[in-house]
Amino acid sequence: MTVGRPILDRSASALAKGYAWLPDLRRRNPGPLLRTRVLGRQAAALRGPEAVRFFYDEDHVRRAGAMPEPVLSTLFGHGAVHTLDGPAHRQRKDMFLSLLTEPREVAELARHAAECWDDAVEAWAERPSVVLFDEVPRVLTRAVCAWAAVPLGPDDTDRLASDLVAMVDGFGTAGPRHWRARAVRKRRERWLEDLVERVRSGHATVPTGSVVDVIAKHRDVDGRPLDRHTAAVELLNVIRPTVAISWFIAYAGHALHRWPHLRKRLRHDDTPYAVAFAHELRRFYPFAPYLGGLAATDLRWQDEDIPADTMVLLDVYGQHHSDELWDQPYAFDPDRFLDVPPGRDELIPQGGGDRSTGHRCPGEDITVALLATLVPRLARLDYDVPDQDLRISLRRLPARIRSGFVLEMACSGALRDPVDA
Ligand code: HEM
Repeated sequence: MTVGRPILDRSASALAKGYAWLPDLRRRNPGPLLRTRVLGRQAAALRGPEAVRFFYDEDHVRRAGAMPEPVLSTLFGHGAVHTLDGPAHRQRKDMFLSLLTEPREVAELARHAAECWDDAVEAWAERPSVVLFDEVPRVLTRAVCAWAAVPLGPDDTDRLASDLVAMVDGFGTAGPRHWRARAVRKRRERWLEDLVERVRSGHATVPTGSVVDVIAKHRDVDGRPLDRHTAAVELLNVIRPTVAISWFIAYAGHALHRWPHLRKRLRHDDTPYAVAFAHELRRFYPFAPYLGGLAATDLRWQDEDIPADTMVLLDVYGQHHSDELWDQPYAFDPDRFLDVPPGRDELIPQGGGDRSTGHRCPGEDITVALLATLVPRLARLDYDVPDQDLRISLRRLPARIRSGFVLEMACSGALRDPVDA
């Protein structure tokens, strides 16, 4: 079937409706493929594991030219691995995989994060209240910069943490948040370009094999080193998303408050439950709304035509809340992942398919490890949750808890003995 009548451009609706945009359209137009128009192009939206495999086949969907400029200028950076296809993508991706998936390195980053969290908690105990969404980015910024060998002065952490959050917070809006994100990205790219130059010229030294070292030395598929701008962009593509894990830690606070029995289990249970909890956080709560690429050629999906250059959208939020795929999708239930690991193409908060050949996130192991390390620590903290606005608007891109999740630390803030719980 081809498009029979003009379809309205839905860019404004996409921004205004946020996470509900594609699920709402689908409810009104059931079928395997949803046709719409965004950014002046025809678009086709899909969801479900089979759609994930279709979307991640490079012969079907390409990334070059697919990413809107406002997203590149805030979230990912121009020239980022996200925008590459074929051998150029593979070569750059191998660099990320070598840095981010080695279990010893993942554990080392988690160790840094645990240390920085424990230090921070001591300081929180001195204050009447803390906003989790303000504090966790600082913890993760310190941890990831120490791990990646990005030097930070004693007073740099807070500003960098707030800049990294701003880059993520500004990608899906046309307002002041967006302009702040653009400005901050430019400034931080220049800062990291300077670091790369100093490392390359020998004016700064970093440990061999560290993230900074590997990116500074990386050669692309053409055999040439990354230009300083692209090197800075890719360095940011390690530290920025690590700090973005703060979104899920704040959501963990929300979940532990709404379903306190889970808090007890996280205090007592071991790693498998914490990992299952991390997966459920990533399924249940909103973060990446959908993913997009361009049809590389004329395609056919379940007897429907998708002409070349159509924007193909994978509806991540819709897939995570589809009752065709999940039992009670609107129930927060970590047990669903306790004995059954998530299906590769079912749980796709960080993309689907094979991470070594496609664009699936190379930071997924790190994300799960940091959540499984820090969320049980949060569950063991002794705190009260004062009255506050805990709403999470699905219209905001990216969504976040309105209050940021305020905690009032009980007495010393020390870890509570699990037997008290
Ligand atoms: C909050 C946690 C995270 C979320 C929700 C997330 C989400 C995503 C998504 C949706 C993609 C795009 C998949 C696609 O285009 O098909 C992606 C790609 C990517 N992510 Fe993550 N990510 C997270 C954490 C991380 C971490 C911790 C790192 C690095 C330390 C990282 C580095 C990357 C990189 C480099 C890519 C590009 C991969 C490629 O194009 O091949 N992410 N991530």
